[in-house]
Amino acid sequence: MLSSQTRVVSTSHRSGQGITNESHQCVRNHLRFFNLWLQNPTNIGAVVPSGKNLGAAMAAEIDPAAPGAVIELGGGTGSITSALLLRGIAPQDLVVVEREPSLCKIMRTRFPHIHVICGDARELGQLLAVAGISQVKAIVSGLPLLSLSKDVERDILLQCFNALPPEGFMVQFTYVPRPPVGRSIAVGLNLKATRTAWVLDNFPPASVWVYRRGAVDPALKQIA
Ligand SMILES: C[S@@+](CC[C@H](N)C(=O)[O-])C[C@H]1O[C@@H](n2cnc3c(N)ncnc32)[C@H](O)[C@@H]1O
Repeated sequence: MLSSQTRVVSTSHRSGQGITNESHQCVRNHLRFFNLWLQNPTNIGAVVPSGKNLGAAMAAEIDPAAPGAVIELGGGTGSITSALLLRGIAPQDLVVVEREPSLCKIMRTRFPHIHVICGDARELGQLLAVAGISQVKAIVSGLPLLSLSKDVERDILLQCFNALPPEGFMVQFTYVPRPPVGRSIAVGLNLKATRTAWVLDNFPPASVWVYRRGAVDPALKQIA
């Protein structure tokens, strides 16, 4: 059952401009992504990059005018990054954390004005401190949370919500018909989940979820 807050996105619009440089680049990126998935399906978590409509549905959650940086976790080849820029997030306010070096290289070439950190989201706090980023308004994640161990998932979520202010939030997509963050982790960190979009023409179809934290337990902060 869809909540009234969930938008269902499905369009079949295609540009009729033929094959352009951009689409060649897109095909190359899809092939690189697929090769990486073949080498390590658990780490990559998807056969192809997210589609434009999924990126747009993720980016729609962010207010470009609000102060602070947007942190994207698991940038891949930049599908969601591109949607965040189209949404109006200033390049200097966008920071991408990607663990796979070859994908970091693609991201840096494709988005020379964005800060791409080649690192592990599990060390987010330290990565942001080293980069001198202290004000974060939202975290947008393409991480394959469902393929992670519970310990790693919990560590990453804790890092994320320690980096966010109380009104901050995390946007995550998933291919499965249930919330992407494990129930025990969400309860333990006092996270409230809302599904905001269901993107039917993504491959595979995906849902967008927004996580916000309830009142912070000071004991949890100290564990980080
Ligand atoms: C499902 S892909 C999403 C890529 C892109 N955001 C998209 O939507 O097309 C997941 C990405 O997360 C990256 N990743 C996985 N674990 C990571 C971690 N612990 N820290 C940073 N990036 C990670 C992978 O290398 C991969 O690029």
